Amino acid sequence: MLQVIHVSKRYSEDRLVVDDVSFSVDKGQIYGLLGPNGAGKTSLMLMIATLLKPTSGSILIDGLSAPRDTLKIHSQIGFLTTEVKLDPLSTPNRLYDFFAELYSLPKDKIAQTKMEDFNRFGITPFADKRIVDLSTGMKQKVSIAISLMHRPSLIIFDEPTNGLDILTSKQVTDYLLELKEQGRTILLSTHIFQLVESLCDRIGILVDGHLVAEGSSEELTDLTGSGNFEEAFFKIYTEHHKE
Ligand SMILES: Nc1ncnc2c1ncn2[C@@H]1O[C@H](COP(=O)(O)OP(=O)(O)O)[C@@H](O)[C@H]1O
Ligand SMILES: [Mg+2]
Repeated sequence: MLQVIHVSKRYSEDRLVVDDVSFSVDKGQIYGLLGPNGAGKTSLMLMIATLLKPTSGSILIDGLSAPRDTLKIHSQIGFLTTEVKLDPLSTPNRLYDFFAELYSLPKDKIAQTKMEDFNRFGITPFADKRIVDLSTGMKQKVSIAISLMHRPSLIIFDEPTNGLDILTSKQVTDYLLELKEQGRTILLSTHIFQLVESLCDRIGILVDGHLVAEGSSEELTDLTGSGNFEEAFFKIYTEHHKE
């Protein structure tokens, strides 16, 4: 479903923030990119979502590749990042309709999916309130609903539970598992190892722009001779991080 092939990114002359990263994700799998702040997770995901051009390397989504297939890719992916802010003076209702129009979704279908999504996330009572008046968790749920309204086959979520309380986090992770059950492919990034441990089929550990280890949490734990995944992560991180 997703193939990342020798991808690098350089913003300025001095260094690569993503350095020759390759991995692939099969259909129906959840893949977690785990790494500390500054590791290059967001840059990598922006490139996969076609919003940032790789300095070198290539990315295939179901055989499609940007810039040739950018429009087709957009119709197949749902992208969520902490960097995108919802218009504070708009409302969940208006934003949902605005993006539905952007995706050229049929109007009758939209009313239905909006009701489903708003009910699932408890957004309905806040549908006509201004974004600025909503809690962090509610804003994140609105962002998630909007990013998935076109029912994409590849879901790219950058730190989806950042800043959320445990109950809202659980709602989000339960939803991700449900999306996986539906056969959708999910790529998520996080700096929280508990999140990938319970959720991901495979985990890639990103340190200073390099993908330094890859496998299931059990494989990575065994590989490093660790007692648990937390220990494995710190071993891998310490081994590869340069001051
Ligand atoms: N637009 C940009 N211009 C220059 N440097 C950037 C830009 N975006 C990110 N960086 C740098 O690239 C590195 C990786 O950042 P990022 O991809 O945001 O990592 P992460 O999401 O893992 O925290 C950081 O050192 C960051 O400062
Ligand atoms: Mg980031």
